[in-house]
Amino acid sequence: MNNNRLYFQQWLSGVDFGSNNQIAKQMRNFTYAVGDTETRELLLIDPAYDVTSILDMVNMENYQLSGILITHYHADHAGGSLMGIEIEGIREILQSNQVPIHINKEELNWMKRSTGIDESYFASHESGDKIKFGTIEATLIHTPGHTPGSQCFLIEDMLVSGDTLFLEGCGRTDLPGSDPEKMYESITTKLTKISDSVTLYPGHFYSDVPFESIAVTKEKNPVLQTMPKDQWLNFFT
Ligand SMILES: [Fe+2]
Repeated sequence: MNNNRLYFQQWLSGVDFGSNNQIAKQMRNFTYAVGDTETRELLLIDPAYDVTSILDMVNMENYQLSGILITHYHADHAGGSLMGIEIEGIREILQSNQVPIHINKEELNWMKRSTGIDESYFASHESGDKIKFGTIEATLIHTPGHTPGSQCFLIEDMLVSGDTLFLEGCGRTDLPGSDPEKMYESITTKLTKISDSVTLYPGHFYSDVPFESIAVTKEKNPVLQTMPKDQWLNFFT
């Protein structure tokens, strides 16, 4: 059900923040901010590259950061080392905001390794757990495949999908911790069950438009087409 108190922002790396960062421009990551317009509590989703600008936007809108949701451990989503280049992220946010970092429990060791952050800062979750911000909830959906603990967030009628599902295609399954069969299961048993009325908000701006309804995505995205598992794995992994 829609709550008209939801504040929802989609910010593009290299444009809305990190405008002087060449990697942020090339990678075209999205950071999301979700808040309650009454209580002014706010969660950031996948903040990276330019923590100062992201926190400035939160402050300028008069919100209070109450937690961080991370879709998966990769440095372009959480900060850390990306092919030897250090990217800002949750480690830098924790220096001024000691808020919980909500991850799937399967991602804990990967997150610790890639960010160097102590385990005590992480809130490790099961699929189905809900994170409250004000009167609004984000439901965590474990979608392994791109990484072991990849998760999507369902917030009212919006699905923030990280690198599990893009508008056209899905995330890579040839990286450390990837598992093509788990990606197939995540997509066919979980994401195809999401209501058509939901809007998909991916982790990167890889299409002509930055978001799309699940209804249209189901028509256009080949990974959401019904086909035998072997064929799906041959095509997409
Ligand atoms: Fe990724």
